[in-house]
Amino acid sequence: MTETVQTELPTDFDSFAREVRSLAQRRNAIVLAHNYQVPWIQDVADHVGDSLALSRIAAASEAETIVFCGVHFMAETAKILSPDKTVLIPDPNAGCSLADTITAEQVVAWKREHPQAIVVAYVNTSAAVKAEVDLCCTSSNAVEIVESLPEDAEILFLPDYFLGAHVARVTGRKISLWMGECHVHAGITPVALRARLEASPDSQLLVHPECGCTSAALYLVESGEIPAERAHVVSTGSMVDYAKGAGDSHVLVATETGIIHQLKAANPRATFEAVNPAAVCRYMKMITPEKLLSCLRETELTEKYEVTVDREIGSRALKAVEAMIAIGNSSKFGE
Ligand code: 13P
Ligand code: SF4
Repeated sequence: MTETVQTELPTDFDSFAREVRSLAQRRNAIVLAHNYQVPWIQDVADHVGDSLALSRIAAASEAETIVFCGVHFMAETAKILSPDKTVLIPDPNAGCSLADTITAEQVVAWKREHPQAIVVAYVNTSAAVKAEVDLCCTSSNAVEIVESLPEDAEILFLPDYFLGAHVARVTGRKISLWMGECHVHAGITPVALRARLEASPDSQLLVHPECGCTSAALYLVESGEIPAERAHVVSTGSMVDYAKGAGDSHVLVATETGIIHQLKAANPRATFEAVNPAAVCRYMKMITPEKLLSCLRETELTEKYEVTVDREIGSRALKAVEAMIAIGNSSKFGE
């Protein structure tokens, strides 16, 4: 029997949410959304979070199908962790400019120049890249991952230069960095940060470590221009935690602007202002409510939305991804 596929989008959130919930239940699916998704997607998802939290939820979920509202490498990471589950993404073209800055062949060539090195990859990489590295990390555990390595280890960090430089600064480790960047976060500049701080000098400051202004924010703290307790360089998930304790303050936010929806929900008394309101990731915004509904409704077109990872690549990438979801407490790599 052919199922009737509706194409129109309900005009109000409640009917959209009802339809998503009933379709997800029928397919035994869980809907995950990254903090940069559009508000309707965040509000309808079973879980909203940062890259690490969503990877952990995907790995632990008992649902048959994971619908990943985020970008492709995130859905691929869920598939690496759960190769026997169906992983769907509402738009398979939702890529990532940062993940595109390095290929598996480039990793292999870099390793050949540093045969003793331990290679740490940010989760924002393809499955093929993950298959060539020792460990993955996200912005919330990059420091702990590097601290778990032997003191004298030679470390290669890829692909994000700003995150890698931040980790090197915090850990004091000597790390060779790949020169990749995310076009959205690199566009949140020291000049933009200074201008916002001049306009609102008493603000709290939340900065994602991928940002072009990360070093400038830390310099302002070190030079005493911003008290240390008012500035935090953290993942989007930790931004939500800080927001909860921000009282009625004015908070400057340096990351993709989609996070502001979660921050306002976490603390309606505070005001949140983007350091760069143009910091919008066009890939994250490719996941629309219409596409989520089509992905759930079109049961006979699963392959159109399905994320696949070659079994051999997936099993080689798994050890690096498992290290990523395990470390965040106090485990030591290699012990
Ligand atoms: P989080 O680690 O905070 O999820 O940020 C990752 C990111 O920038 C998504 O692409
Ligand atoms: Fe990639 Fe940057 Fe978009 Fe995150 S915000 S998905 S790092 S392009």
